[in-house]
Amino acid sequence: MAILKVARMGHPVLRKPAEPLEPREIATPRIQRLIDDMFETMHDSRGIGLAGPQVHESVRLFVAGVDDPDGGMPPVVVINPEITPVGSAVEEDWEGCLSIPDIRGRVPRAAKIRLRALDRHGRPLALTADGYPARVLQHETDHLDGVLFFDRMTSFESITFLEEYGRYWAPKSDD
Ligand code: NI
Repeated sequence: MAILKVARMGHPVLRKPAEPLEPREIATPRIQRLIDDMFETMHDSRGIGLAGPQVHESVRLFVAGVDDPDGGMPPVVVINPEITPVGSAVEEDWEGCLSIPDIRGRVPRAAKIRLRALDRHGRPLALTADGYPARVLQHETDHLDGVLFFDRMTSFESITFLEEYGRYWAPKSDD
């Protein structure tokens, strides 16, 4: 396994719509190794999700997941995702991105979604998600369309450096 270089905002690969993967391609050692490397890169960077374009691979693939006793998300490999909002509720909450280091901002997202995709074995994956996992799945799917979280913000008033986020905005552990 290897830790991959993460593209930062400004790199054109982040703005290019990514190509779908054929089920045949998913089984190849190249893609299986890419998935393993993306998990390793995500964990090394303490990220919650990582999409192909963020590691200079313009394919419709992302990995996500985090261990957290206060609301984690099991690890998931998502290929060729299609997201449909369930209902019309929208929630605003904080997001960050490994391609926009050390910045946080508040982003409105569909509160509940349905996801259809393929897993790392090329098998159909269907799930519904709400709250934090729904937010992560929407953020990562956006990367496959060349969309960054800044594009989804309705106001830039909340844009915050990580240090100030920790000082003024992060939920306190004893809350
Ligand atoms: Ni991101």
